[in-house]
Amino acid sequence: MSTPIIEFRGAGKNFGDVTALAGVDLSIDAGEIYAVIGHSGAGKSTLVRLINALERATSGEVLVDGVDITKLSERRLREVRLGIGMVFQQFNLMRSRTVFGNVAYPLKVAGWAKADRERRVTELLKFVGIADKAWQYPDQLSGGQKQRVGIARALATNPKILLADESTSALDPETTGEVLRLLKRVNSEFGVTIVVITHEMEVVREIADRVAVLKDGKVIEHGPVREVFAAPREPTTKTFVETVLRARPDPADLARIRERHPGRLVIARVSDDRRIGPVLSEAISRYDVRFEVVHGGVKELGSTSFGSLTLELIGADAAVDKLIADLRAATDVEELV
Ligand SMILES: Nc1ncnc2c1ncn2[C@@H]1O[C@H](COP(=O)(O)OP(=O)(O)O)[C@@H](O)[C@H]1O
Ligand SMILES: [Mg+2]
Repeated sequence: MSTPIIEFRGAGKNFGDVTALAGVDLSIDAGEIYAVIGHSGAGKSTLVRLINALERATSGEVLVDGVDITKLSERRLREVRLGIGMVFQQFNLMRSRTVFGNVAYPLKVAGWAKADRERRVTELLKFVGIADKAWQYPDQLSGGQKQRVGIARALATNPKILLADESTSALDPETTGEVLRLLKRVNSEFGVTIVVITHEMEVVREIADRVAVLKDGKVIEHGPVREVFAAPREPTTKTFVETVLRARPDPADLARIRERHPGRLVIARVSDDRRIGPVLSEAISRYDVRFEVVHGGVKELGSTSFGSLTLELIGADAAVDKLIADLRAATDVEELV
């Protein structure tokens, strides 16, 4: 898993005097699920549209399978696009065609014979779990079912790459989970490289191997999802991570906590390789400091867990200082004042 299938080399995109992307370097490996997260307007859709050349870069290079697609003719681009499927936030299904007709459409365009189309569509609808809906129309389906049709259609011609731009943003959390699990199966069973564009860190946590954080058209941080969650560096990334962990008490929580817990409060980040248990278990015997967990959350990520805990530390000031110093040696600690 280390051959890049998609590479951005200093890729930029301007719309008039608006810079949507400013010199992006990014390398996505064949067979991985790569997430790009950012707030609205960060340049995510522009980035994904450069991969299938719906937009042309105004500077730098975009390589797909080693070929710089910014230099290709429209004719050659059509061939490249055949190897790339796309799913959309609003599904983009044709209302006048049945589920079957929607999934068969790209095969028709690609010139597949009728019998081959029927076999392929049947197989795809079964894979995405809506074989019983083949003769229904999009308007008769739920959001999750529509997105299953969108995924089946995107996979019809056996693409190596699947681009998903906010593909779960119109769905409720439960349906989001079902669609993300389906995308994971697309990746693991067919080896399709998936680029997931999202503004939700929970989506990144559930599905991605690696993540890049986009801000004002630039990649400000990237890495394996577990590393970014365990130790986010940029303020934007920290905010995204906290949305998942609900780790930090909000002002109303904090006011309630303060009423019941007059001691000093600290927030400590925890993960499998940043344990605070050993320090806390000695708090009483070494420093005569008692502690209580007053807020926090720990989540699973693959085989590891991570999160943060708000602790009340009760004891003499100098002793609490010493305990905090020990905690700081183990992990990031912030005192709430
Ligand atoms: N076709 C376009 N014409 C002019 N400006 C655009 C166009 N597409 C995107 N932009 C601008 O580029 C920036 C990035 O947009 P976009 O890639 O859609 O961000 P995101 O998907 O992260 O919300 C925004 O400022 C947006 O207004
Ligand atoms: Mg967008």
